[in-house]
Amino acid sequence: MPIALIVLAAGQGSRMQSDLPKVLHRVAHAPLLAHALRAGGVLQPDRVVVVAGHGGEAVEAATRALDPEAVVVRQAEQRGTAHAVAQASAALEDFSGDAIILYGDTPFIRPETLDAMLAARAEGADVVVLGFEAADPGRYGRLIVQDDRLERIVEAKDATPEELAIRLCNSGVIAADKHLLFELIEQVGADNAAGEHYLTDIVALARAARRAARVVICPEAETLGVNTRADLARAEAAFQDRARLDAMATGATLTAPETVFFAHDTVIGRDVAIEPNVVFGPGVTVETGATIRAFSHLEGCHVSADCVVGPYARLRPGAELDRGVKIGNFVEVKAAQIHEGAKINHLTYIGDAEIGARVNVGAGTVTCNYDGVAKHRTTIGADAFIGSDTMLVAPVTIGAGAMTGSGSVVTDDVPDGALAMGRARQETKPGYAERLQQAFRARKETR
Ligand code: UD1
Ligand code: CA
Repeated sequence: MPIALIVLAAGQGSRMQSDLPKVLHRVAHAPLLAHALRAGGVLQPDRVVVVAGHGGEAVEAATRALDPEAVVVRQAEQRGTAHAVAQASAALEDFSGDAIILYGDTPFIRPETLDAMLAARAEGADVVVLGFEAADPGRYGRLIVQDDRLERIVEAKDATPEELAIRLCNSGVIAADKHLLFELIEQVGADNAAGEHYLTDIVALARAARRAARVVICPEAETLGVNTRADLARAEAAFQDRARLDAMATGATLTAPETVFFAHDTVIGRDVAIEPNVVFGPGVTVETGATIRAFSHLEGCHVSADCVVGPYARLRPGAELDRGVKIGNFVEVKAAQIHEGAKINHLTYIGDAEIGARVNVGAGTVTCNYDGVAKHRTTIGADAFIGSDTMLVAPVTIGAGAMTGSGSVVTDDVPDGALAMGRARQETKPGYAERLQQAFRARKETR
């Protein structure tokens, strides 16, 4: 059965107190909208329609970046959830199949849950609503169920005290045949406490038309919606909990999982060890057997098998570590390919560079890549030895097997196998230290 996702994302999200549209606030470095699209994406939908309104331009641009095939339609005025879904009708004119309504601010619906909803459809339910037992039903719509059949949904604002006592609540996620869905939505009025066109009314309308409606129940955590910054923090915590468990389930060791933060797209291999207080920005892959030591920050980088990174290392976008590379404390690497077995262990900045296999970079080395206007590259051949406190003034190339003397400022290329020294020659004056100290003391006494 072909599937169309309709993702509602028009609301202002006024309780976020933000200039950014709510669905563009981020969890694990991805907008809420991306999480919602990913949740629905597991069904491999044939069509995706995002209904944008507040901050429509920004939402449209974000949608295009996330899924170039998605269609964005505008809901100029937010006149209720049914009215929002109706905006998708023209975009789905030529589509036949099931429509599933998701929400841009509800990031954690699991694939199993959507599968269960489709299974209920396959078993003959015309309208399937995703419900949950709410710990605090508050302002959620209540599901009125009789003998396994869903009869109607009543919004909290319109509910009687008896209905308010019901804890089975509406998540808002609905699956139905597309043609039936829009047929029902056309009949929805706005004669209710909010004066809105409630999507939830389609259940009673379906029942009146002798159609079958059913509830599929999921855990409340899955339907977690984001309305406030506090909700956003809770969503982040929920994401991280799950990501830590996933990493461990696939064979990573996390010494203190509650202190490790993943991004939405972090990939961690088997037998990777992650020490406490490690933070992953977007775009990181860590392969089998690598160790990420405490207090490291990784972003947009690739760590190959058996590397050791940290403690206190920073890998920035474009850091490519081949197998068995060692990056030690207070080392920053950006846009640099580090070949197999190279060691950069202490207090160093490597940016816009290529470092050959088995190179040893001494403590305090800096690739001086920026001249205030442009960035320049540093290339170091295999087996070279960079002495401590070498300033590599790019563009510069150090040949294979070459060496630089400690404290050198290297501005010219160094051929293979050569030794480059770029520093003042040492002068040693016997006895001078003692004489100098005496002079200083004498000066102090006469003051
Ligand atoms: C809705 C449901 C309620 C359910 C709850 C779950 C209705 C009438 N009520 O209530 O039964 O328990 O969600 O969270 O559907 N939106 C638009 N355009 C609009 C109105 C809403 O895009 O014109 C979007 C909002 O951005 C939001 C979502 O739809 O993401 C839900 O709308 P909201 O007004 O928050 O509905 P609730 O009152 O929470
Ligand atoms: Ca809501």
